[in-house]
Amino acid sequence: MGFAKAQPAIAGRAARALPPGPRGVSFLWRLLRAPDGWLDFLTDCQRQYGNVVYFRFLAVPACLINDPAGIERVLVTDHQNFTKSMDYRALSRVLGQGLLTSEGEFWKRQRRLVQPAFFRERILSYGGLMTSYTARMMDTWQTDEVRDVHRDMMHVTLQIAARSLFNVEIDGDAGTIGRALTVVMEEMPKLAGFAFLPDWVPVPGLGAFRRALADLDQVVYGIIRDRRASAARPGDLLDMLLDARDENGAGMSDLHLRDEVMTLLLAGHETTANTLAWTLYLLAQNPEQQSRLEAEVRTVLDGRVAEAASLDRLPYTQMALMEAQRLYPPAWAIGRKALRDFEVSGYRIPAGTNIIVSQWVLHRDPRLYPDPERFDPERWREEVAGRRSLPKFAYLPFGAGPRVCVGASLALTESALVLATLIERFRFSLASAEPVKAFPSVTLRPRQGLRLRVERLR
Ligand code: HEM
Repeated sequence: MGFAKAQPAIAGRAARALPPGPRGVSFLWRLLRAPDGWLDFLTDCQRQYGNVVYFRFLAVPACLINDPAGIERVLVTDHQNFTKSMDYRALSRVLGQGLLTSEGEFWKRQRRLVQPAFFRERILSYGGLMTSYTARMMDTWQTDEVRDVHRDMMHVTLQIAARSLFNVEIDGDAGTIGRALTVVMEEMPKLAGFAFLPDWVPVPGLGAFRRALADLDQVVYGIIRDRRASAARPGDLLDMLLDARDENGAGMSDLHLRDEVMTLLLAGHETTANTLAWTLYLLAQNPEQQSRLEAEVRTVLDGRVAEAASLDRLPYTQMALMEAQRLYPPAWAIGRKALRDFEVSGYRIPAGTNIIVSQWVLHRDPRLYPDPERFDPERWREEVAGRRSLPKFAYLPFGAGPRVCVGASLALTESALVLATLIERFRFSLASAEPVKAFPSVTLRPRQGLRLRVERLR
């Protein structure tokens, strides 16, 4: 079961039948009873059936593609043949028609509009606020206390996103957003299940979800209202959105602005928080690697504040983050839907099939990553030095192709700066021998927070 080259599009040669995969209903019960089971289910599919696996979930055709060449095909070379998959419909209940969920010309225009906010010079200019929010957070920590570092990381990355993208101090609302987001994430697997059914089928038990959404709306509309009422024009992402005009000279509606601000605020902090929380967990499990990281940070920074422009002097910090994103990819799967039949690895995939590219499965594939369960930042030394050691499309924390994460550089800079700042002052250790379970909602979160013991070093 090697990694085959992607087959050319169907032409002249009869494609084989549907790919193999689980049939019947037993796996369906397993997934409906325990939505956390998706990670194991997809892993088992790949191990048992190979790189292309076809199954039906609630009558909806789905195909897992785990072959880097096939992934390239779906996300990059033939991307016009795919839209976002049905689950993004569930996500659009929260994000509306923002950059992550919109399609076609509308998406293209928004992407062009938002992109300049993520240019390198801008990102470098956010470095100071990233380290100062982190330092301020650590000032409140006591040595030897057990903290939910997932909650801490959510808080600090939200402050950073709100300030860097929208020039807003979000401190008072951070608790509201954190709680609302937890509810939304817990309800999302249920909503994703219903996304496969027609719109007229009501989703039961959505009271808590609706209240959470109303809380998020209140914060986001507040950000827009305050800027409209203010004379200040800091030239940030919010100004770019407010100043945008279409070909008829019309600005964005309040609803549309809400969708973009909500998308960027949520996508802009949640995934980075998960990256940092999982990295701290892995370092707590691996004290030797944590000591190496500490030594690098101590030597390079020598008491100075970490700076965005000199992150290349912290290669082990970058390697630890890459390895954490391999083992716990915050975006654990990407979904697409085929518009027309296509062929991959000799199999014919019918139009309408939902395609799953799972970073969780791909990043733990032993053919790509020897001893895949082991946390080993060293495996990234070549890549960090700019030498490719892996097949292209074998590592996809930020996706690929035209829909690749717009905030990838921001996220990488932010996670390295926050991690270096944390490690310079604190050591992290496990508070309990109980493993922390991963919960695959829209993102990969710790099931019930992530408690670690923190010990002050200086
Ligand atoms: C470690 C942090 C992050 C990870 C792992 C991550 C991952 C991803 C992935 C995998 C996609 C592609 C989804 C798809 O193809 O369907 C994506 C898209 C996106 N991300 Fe991120 N992201 C991160 C941080 C950020 C940040 C900091 C921002 C903004 C400030 C952001 C905003 C977005 C947006 C707006 C999209 C949609 C882009 C488009 O379709 O044009 N993300 N992200």
